[in-house]
Amino acid sequence: MEITIQKVAPDKLKKKPSDESNLAFGDIFTDHMFFVDYKTGKGWYNPRIVPYGCFSVDPAAMAIHYGQEIFEGLKAYKADDGSIYLFRPEENIKRFNRSATRICMPELDSSLFMDAIKKLILVEQDWIPKNQGTSLYIRPAMFASEPHLGVRPAKEYIAFIIVCPVGAYYKEGLSPIKIYVEDKYVRASVGGIGEAKTAGNYAASLLAAEEAKAKGFTQVLWLDASQRKYIEEVGTMNMFFVIDNEIITAPLAGSVLHGITRDSAIQLVKRWGMKVAEKAISIDDVIAAARSGRLTEAFGTGTAAVISPVGQITYRNEDHIVAGGKMGQLSQRLYDEIVGIQYGKKADPFGWRVKVN
Ligand code: COI
Repeated sequence: MEITIQKVAPDKLKKKPSDESNLAFGDIFTDHMFFVDYKTGKGWYNPRIVPYGCFSVDPAAMAIHYGQEIFEGLKAYKADDGSIYLFRPEENIKRFNRSATRICMPELDSSLFMDAIKKLILVEQDWIPKNQGTSLYIRPAMFASEPHLGVRPAKEYIAFIIVCPVGAYYKEGLSPIKIYVEDKYVRASVGGIGEAKTAGNYAASLLAAEEAKAKGFTQVLWLDASQRKYIEEVGTMNMFFVIDNEIITAPLAGSVLHGITRDSAIQLVKRWGMKVAEKAISIDDVIAAARSGRLTEAFGTGTAAVISPVGQITYRNEDHIVAGGKMGQLSQRLYDEIVGIQYGKKADPFGWRVKVN
């Protein structure tokens, strides 16, 4: 399918941010967006890049009432020589389509999806910031647009991609964050939709996150829904703990997001000959390790967050300082390696980089 491109007139282009060192996450959007429609029986049609703008959506659109919405997050990076890279975009496309299947939405053709990302990035290439730690965040999404109030999968959808120049996701940047272990609310349960990148999972996280923020924490660490015992994830990141030199992360057992940075970190530490385990780990074990000094590092992984060191874990009113409240050695090494690959500064032994221009 050919993607048509309607460009904004040169004198109507938005002003680009002048100070890259001050970019926050997710408030500035570029001049264009990608759009494609779907109808049952007709399939996907009319893929187009158009000027960025508001949708016209029927108030009975099923996404608004019953939550059929999914999204993805990936980034475009500008290398010193002007090359533009994506990082493992085919994994985002696969995950998008797995999320779609889980909540009864149509899959988007992977080659159309990849073509749409690349074409939009080329149209918006002047928006890609150059400083390390900055990038052009790419947000593909799909929602049910059919106007109908019976509860069933919709027959009409809109998929779109918007992009925005971003800096660090957390205001702390690479400084360690404080996380609050949540043992009242839950994010997702096995058999539910926790693995899908769908709006409802994020809505489910908000109240706990607001309560934690009011107490001075950056994020909530979720425990499993049935026993409030095992570590799950941090909502915007997967979590890793280094205990007795073993790197441990929760298994992908149904309620945890299949993080692409998570998988990249696992592949890297295996290549470096380190011991890594995807296994259930209880909060009690993490706290016992923190008390005895065996927990040497904790960090989160995510597209938006990259590698985010955790300097404090608070559980049942007790604060546990991790790695002296500083960024640990492994977090720093993983950050340097992943960012180095993403910006074309380091060798790419796994073939993760995809060149756009
Ligand atoms: C991402 O890391 O891209 C995410 O989707 C996390 C968050 C910004 C929702």
